[in-house]
Amino acid sequence: MISIAVSSQKGGVGKTTLSINLAHSFARAGVRTLLVDADPQGSVGLSLTRQSRLLTGFYDYLADPGIPLDRLVVPTRLETFSLVASGQASDYETGGGGVGAHLARVRGFLRSAAARGFDLCIIDTAAGLFGISGDVIASSDAVMIPQQAEPLGIRSAPKLLEGLNRLRVMNPRLRVLGVCLTMVQKELAESTEAAAALRQLLPPEMVFQTQIPRDGLFVRASARGLPVGVLEDGAGAQIVFDSLRAEVEAKLESKGGNPPTR
Ligand SMILES: Nc1ncnc2c1ncn2[C@@H]1O[C@H](COP(=O)(O)OP(=O)(O)O)[C@@H](O)[C@H]1O
Ligand SMILES: [Mg+2]
Repeated sequence: MISIAVSSQKGGVGKTTLSINLAHSFARAGVRTLLVDADPQGSVGLSLTRQSRLLTGFYDYLADPGIPLDRLVVPTRLETFSLVASGQASDYETGGGGVGAHLARVRGFLRSAAARGFDLCIIDTAAGLFGISGDVIASSDAVMIPQQAEPLGIRSAPKLLEGLNRLRVMNPRLRVLGVCLTMVQKELAESTEAAAALRQLLPPEMVFQTQIPRDGLFVRASARGLPVGVLEDGAGAQIVFDSLRAEVEAKLESKGGNPPTR
């Protein structure tokens, strides 16, 4: 099983949207995919939005790793697509205990998922690279970083570079798949300029070719806790995530190590 953490230092950059839709794209392609909501305020709802708050989930497992994975995994209408909700235990109830306290439990969770036959686990993390998000990144095979295409977001790019390097120190075998520009507005110069500026700043292999456009469809889909592809008019938006999936597959297949970030 390959595990991919979807992480960023900032909130509201499109992590959850990317996680849901990329996972859905893989599942549609026949990859047995587990989407994990590792954000306690998360909203990986997927047509369970109403009851997802009541589900036993990832944080409950961190608080009590005796819970069998079967109690956490929620099937969807698509046979290859399953979810684990964030659950009801809060960050506090999982026990704190400093850096790496949950590392063993996160790794145990991923081992159980692999043993259950999943090919891919996509983990939507809370903003920030520390705490449980840090533990998830340190336990994953790969990480993707969504980045909003707007001037303020790009100004934080040096910080982003720093963050990427820190991630590799935490987990030397971590593959940094790269930054994915999100909410790109083709008709808005500030947005396309910000996207171009980020491409100038980072090595080309560190930025996905695929850019996620800003599209009201994503807001509509997320309000309903669904991947865009299942909306009546979502086929176009689905294609964007299929192309992102192809890039992720190519990166995972290429044998090369991590390119330098500077
Ligand atoms: N490509 C997009 N186009 C339009 N709205 C988007 C897009 N991606 C995300 N959004 C909206 O922006 C908000 C934040 O996105 P979300 O994926 O929840 O970010 P995060 O998980 O990083 O906090 C949500 O309301 C979401 O519907
Ligand atoms: Mg989110």
